[in-house]
Amino acid sequence: MEIIIEKKENNRSEILDKIVSLAKRRGFVFQSSEIYGGLNGCWDYGPLGVELLRNIKEEWWKWMTFRENIEGLDASILMHPKVWEASGHVENFTDPMVDCKQCKARFRIDILSEIINDKKKKKVLEELRNSIIEDSKLVDKFTDAFQTEDPFSTILEDQDLSMKLLQEINCPQCGNKGTFTSARQFNLMFKTFIGPVEDSGAVVYLRPETAQGIFVNFLNVQSSSRQKLPFGIAQLGKAFRNEINTKNFLFRTREFEQMEMQFFVKPTDDKKWYDYWKDERLQWYKNLGMSENKLRYHDHPKDKLAHYAKEATDIEYEFPFGWGEIEGIHNRTDFDLSRHEEFSGKSLKYFDEESKEKFIPYIIETSAGASRSFMAFLTDAYYEEEVKGEMRSVLRFHPKLAPIKAAILPLVNKDGMPEISEKIEKDLRKKFKVFYDDKGAVGRRYRRQDEAGTPFCITVDTQTLEDQTVTVRDRDSMEQVRVQIDNISLYLTDKISL
Ligand code: GAP
Repeated sequence: MEIIIEKKENNRSEILDKIVSLAKRRGFVFQSSEIYGGLNGCWDYGPLGVELLRNIKEEWWKWMTFRENIEGLDASILMHPKVWEASGHVENFTDPMVDCKQCKARFRIDILSEIINDKKKKKVLEELRNSIIEDSKLVDKFTDAFQTEDPFSTILEDQDLSMKLLQEINCPQCGNKGTFTSARQFNLMFKTFIGPVEDSGAVVYLRPETAQGIFVNFLNVQSSSRQKLPFGIAQLGKAFRNEINTKNFLFRTREFEQMEMQFFVKPTDDKKWYDYWKDERLQWYKNLGMSENKLRYHDHPKDKLAHYAKEATDIEYEFPFGWGEIEGIHNRTDFDLSRHEEFSGKSLKYFDEESKEKFIPYIIETSAGASRSFMAFLTDAYYEEEVKGEMRSVLRFHPKLAPIKAAILPLVNKDGMPEISEKIEKDLRKKFKVFYDDKGAVGRRYRRQDEAGTPFCITVDTQTLEDQTVTVRDRDSMEQVRVQIDNISLYLTDKISL
């Protein structure tokens, strides 16, 4: 039996590079269109990645929709352009950004603020204060900005002050000063055209969130499924955002998948259901083995709430680069349905048979990123350990998420072991994603499976020939138990469903 001698602590700065490299080497994630130099912000899921992603989505779907009060939906990606006017995306789904006139680099204002270090910020703010000292209106704005959590960003977001501040900043790319344009709003929705004519009347958008497909189908789903409040609609699917700065691997991409659920409630019950879904969603990540100490809520302060939200929290995961949102939970009030009622001219009111009242329900939204959760599960599972003086990389996925559930390994390629192994593989394949490996020393084959996150390795050895048992090696403890061949399927089912 192998014994863990020492568990190496992951170095935060190196770890992301190692995960990206493993993801490519083992076929989890490839850069999109790699042979053409790649397409920024787009990624392809390889043979192991597609299984992991499917398993995450499958677990989410089961957790959310295997309930009496949640229905599923799969709305189209392209929707009537008025949807995005009603939702506020045409007007508000923008990021302020600046261009460097010299080197043509483009920066989102908040990213620019992240790039500049604190010492430099202090110096630049001092220079700004000196340059506006004569203008009492600007001085007032400047002073007010210091009442906020991040004065530098607040000043950058103010039109009058940002013009001046930007003149004091050196471009992080070419180093020139005074070369920034003023900040401009940039809409993050991808535009395309429907039909053969590319004119303004034919503009449609690739959806930037799956939520709107649910809102506009609220009454269709409610009446066809005969649901009564409170009930929810869940949907999984692609979303697209023309992010200016894509970063940190899968964290911020231009094409990604969301797993959203909108829960329709009586306005007076909103707090109860908001709290319920907040707990329930965090529990989902924990149940799938995500480290509890790397998960937290970040409640939005009242003055930072989105225009449609009454209460909001993010579930955050501690990535190697710091804490980042993996899911948002919002009390969206009656904002969305009211807006769609207004813009479509169709009533979206619910008739409550008990009270005989008609009203617009409130919505509690749970909005998770499948791609971002993928990255969190992958990062969380990654360990480097020293075993008998040798390093092993291991992905400790929850068995439900593991891309391959078991590997079947004949100890040697003779004495009837391959035949028995092939039979086991054929039987297990009916139920599980399994892998057959007969290449190289068995220790190296174990390592390859550890790195792929395979929770169980089944080895056919000399004893198998005598008593029809195999060894089943556990990926994490590396302990081996002997199991009767006839019982392997049941054994795996029990272990995976834990
Ligand atoms: N309907 C609400 C909504 O879309 P959001 O906070 O913009 O809210 C929800 O997005 C989730 O979608 C995020 O928590 C994140 O997991 C994922 N997400 C958003 N933008 C993303 C991007 N550019 N790349 C990857 N995932 C993203």
